[in-house]
Amino acid sequence: MIKKLIIANWKMHYGPVKAGAWIRAFRRERLPKDMDIGVAVPHVSLPATHASLGRASVPLIGAQNAFWKSDGPFTGEISPDMLKELNVTFCLVGHSERRIHLGETDEMVAQKAAALQAAGIQPVICVGENETEHKKGETLKIVRGQLTAALSKIKTSGTSIIIAYEPIWAIGTGNACTPSDAKKMHEAIRELLNKKFGKAGQTMRIIYGGSVDAHNAAEYISTSHVDGVLVGSASLDPCAFGLLCRSAAIS
Ligand code: 13P
Repeated sequence: MIKKLIIANWKMHYGPVKAGAWIRAFRRERLPKDMDIGVAVPHVSLPATHASLGRASVPLIGAQNAFWKSDGPFTGEISPDMLKELNVTFCLVGHSERRIHLGETDEMVAQKAAALQAAGIQPVICVGENETEHKKGETLKIVRGQLTAALSKIKTSGTSIIIAYEPIWAIGTGNACTPSDAKKMHEAIRELLNKKFGKAGQTMRIIYGGSVDAHNAAEYISTSHVDGVLVGSASLDPCAFGLLCRSAAIS
């Protein structure tokens, strides 16, 4: 059985001071033991996050982006090796906000995912269709295309990967994809993973993101083929996020 996973994505919130305070508050929360919990932090806040975490092992600390080269003349970029030095265990790749605002292409996502895997950091590969594509019934085609590209350089034998299905129209809108629609997409993604990676594909986690909150998290988590959730705005308050984690565990 795949252990469920809840990841908080702070996006561009919380510099070092607020990040440290979030972690200290979250450490006071009672958390379920039967699932993994992580938080994807802005790069500049990674050291403060770790410092506030101390010897605690929850939440797992992740980043939100990485470049595909290990060093060199790439002004402003951060490499997977640098993140490794900061004890980052996972990193989001290809979030739709980066695809939309920064022009990240499928090819860039593929390179980033492979570089992270090579550095021993779990890539969390984000895929999802926009509203127009959704309305045109192109969801499956778009997600398959994004995923096929993103996985093209991933090694079956390397650090395991996570897929996050995040329909763009559901992000930050309060208009979440229904669990039954999410299930259908997750099944299709699982099929693709099985085809590409064989047995290894069966254990890769596929999580859902898009307007997940404390009211609906349990429903997603208990849906078959949904191995966890990726949470944006409902993760910004540490106590509310703690509540979300507990609510998901009761399912
Ligand atoms: P919201 O939970 O705010 O909809 O954001 C989802 C998301 O983009 C997580 O990566």
